[in-house]
Parts: sequence; C-alpha cells; structure tokens
Amino acid sequence: MSAGPVTESPLQYLDEALAQLERDGLHRSLRQLQGEQLPRARFDGRDVINLSSNNYLGLTTHPKMREAALEAVRSLGVGTGSVRTIAGTMDLHMELERRIAAFKKTEASVVFQSGFAANAGTVSALLGKGDLILSDELNHASIIDGARLSRADIKVFPHRDVAALEKLLHETRDVKRRLVITDGVFSMDGDIAPLPQIAALARAHGAIMMIDDAHSSGVLGRAGRGTVDHFDIHGQVDVQVGTLSKAIGVLGGYVCGSKRNEDREASAAVAAACLVAFDVLEQEPERIQRLWSNTKRFKDGLLSLGFNTGKSETPITPVMVGEGDLAMRFSDRLFERGVFAQGIGYPTVAKGKARLRTIVTATHTDEDLDLALAILGEVGRELGVLG
Ligand SMILES: Cc1ncc(COP(=O)(O)O)c(C=O)c1O
Repeated sequence: MSAGPVTESPLQYLDEALAQLERDGLHRSLRQLQGEQLPRARFDGRDVINLSSNNYLGLTTHPKMREAALEAVRSLGVGTGSVRTIAGTMDLHMELERRIAAFKKTEASVVFQSGFAANAGTVSALLGKGDLILSDELNHASIIDGARLSRADIKVFPHRDVAALEKLLHETRDVKRRLVITDGVFSMDGDIAPLPQIAALARAHGAIMMIDDAHSSGVLGRAGRGTVDHFDIHGQVDVQVGTLSKAIGVLGGYVCGSKRNEDREASAAVAAACLVAFDVLEQEPERIQRLWSNTKRFKDGLLSLGFNTGKSETPITPVMVGEGDLAMRFSDRLFERGVFAQGIGYPTVAKGKARLRTIVTATHTDEDLDLALAILGEVGRELGVLG
C-alpha cells in the first residue's frame, strides 16, 4: 500500500503554536533597532526612550572601543579562520584572557562566543553522568541547558533559599561530585544572590561553587568586578562566568577560575574592543556611579507612582503586572507613547508573574528618566496596572 499524497507540512504544528500565542496576546516579534544602541533610539521607525537594553554603561558606542575594533579589523581582518584548537589562537585573544583574569583576580580565564555558550559549555564540561547540579530555580536558561547537556542529575532549590540548599547538600552528601550554581544578579528580577552564605555552604560540603555574573560584571563591585568583589569573597568561588555583551558592550562570554578550566574565540575586532572596555571600567568610574544614581532615581519614581518592582536591588527593575497578555499590552502601549520596555511572560518567568523588564543605563539623562516615568504612570493608570 502506498502512502497518499502529503498535504500538510510536518512543521505545521509550529504555525499552530504561533497562532495560539497570537490568540493569547503573548506573541512577540523582534523590534528592529535603526541606528545605534542609545538611551534614546529609533526602533521600528519610532523614536523612543530605551529601557530595554543591557548596555548598562553606554560602552557599545564608546569612541576608544570603536577605534580599537576598527584598528583590529584593519590590521588583522574580520575573522579568525576557525577554532583555536585547530587553527591556532591570536595574541589578542590570549591578551584578553589574561586581562579578564587579572580584572577578576583569578588565575585564568577562557573566552567564548557568548555568555550563553560560556555557561552551557562550562557546566557540561565540569560535570557528567552520576554527578549532581544544585541550581537556583531562577537561574538563566543557559545554565539549565548546560545542566541538561552534562547528563548530571539536577536538583533545583527555591530562589535564594540558603536553608533549602543546605538541606539538599546534606541529603546528597554521598554524591561524589556536586556543583552549586547561582546567578549573581538575577536577569528578570534584579535581585542579588546571597553569595557569601551559598559559597560557604558549597565549601563546607565539598561542592564546586559556580556563579553566572552576566548582570553583575560592570555593575557590582569595585570598577564593576562583579558579585564576588561586591561581597569581597575572592577565592571562595571556583568558577565565575561573565558576558562581554551586556555592560562590556561588545559580544562574547568568558569563564574565570583556576588554570584547570580551559578552551574557544571571537573576531579580532571583538577582542580588541573588549580589551579597551576593561580599561574604561577602571578609568571612568563615573559611568558606574551614574548607573547607580540613575537606578535610584528611576526606582524611587516607580515606587512613588505605586508600581510593584518586586525585590530588585540593581538596575534591572521589573514592573510587576501579573498576566502575560496585560504585560504585552502595557509594553505595546508604552511603545506607542515613546517608551520601549519589553513585556516578559511565561516561560521566561512563571505564569502569573508577567512584567515589564526595565533597565536604566549610565547614559540616560534625568529628563529621559522623568519623561519615561510620567508615561509609565499614565499608561499604568489607563490599563489598570495602577489603581
Ligand atoms: C543571567 C544571564 N546569563 C547568561 C546570559 C547569556 O549571555 P549572552 O547574551 O552573552 O549569551 C544572559 C543573557 O541574556 C543572562 O541574562
């Protein structure tokens, strides 16, 4: 018996899933940035105050970094010609890795093509079958992917719950190799992990301690050295992952720790711009100061309008809304009024905890922030998010 003619694409289910998202008011399409990533930028043909970028310190357009990238392209070309383990590595990449390790006060660092790859690659390289990963429930997707790739067992502890982690460590004391992992700053809530307590527990129980500092580097600690420096617990965290695509303003990721964790590589332009970025962090402290004073001004404004900003302690400030479709409508209406703040819903955050995710940067002016707050207040009242 022959199969009849195929009338439907085997990928039809994807169209149905997208249609369902549309019906639920949860479908998002990419906003297109026309021009540079600035605090006031043009997206989809509209000039808006940008509260969505992770360009914390305004480094994406820093003149010295732009120049370093251009010079690297002129002298070294635009690509690396494949992976370093096979094709060799550039001096510039080795220099960047030494620079990052020195900045973070660790023995060594390895650069990856993205923070995502750094997390996924590191977790899956450190652990294997029969090992155990103890992970905060709000850890980033790249950690979750890395944990699954590793084929280790995974136990999730409630968000920032040190007592629950201790109990799990006790219950799993017979497992030979364990990794405790947490974000430093949580990407959707903006709160900070209780790292000193978590690291002390990991040490007491003989587990490896790893932190994802994607949103802490350039933000927390001296000159933006991150969460370990913020709590002054150098030497107590075995593995630190960071990204070069947020506060550093370029692209890529890295892992820092002892010389035992090694391996990858981006273009020379990326490496050259990143190298300058670490100098900028040390030489222009006013950027981090301004980031924090802007954060305070904006958070205070949101609170006095009556918004619920969750437990945020950093420039990532959620505006809690509840239902996903309302968060998306809120975001769309703000955009029409000239403010870009992305709506975030399930599965990025739990059902019923949809929100706008706002981030101010060092480069927003007081006027930008005050105008954004006024519009947030008006739209919040219009949609009933504010009482
Ligand atoms: C907490 C966290 N970790 C890791 C990453 C991945 O970084 P990258 O964008 O460089 O891949 C992100 C980015 O979204 C993040 O928010």
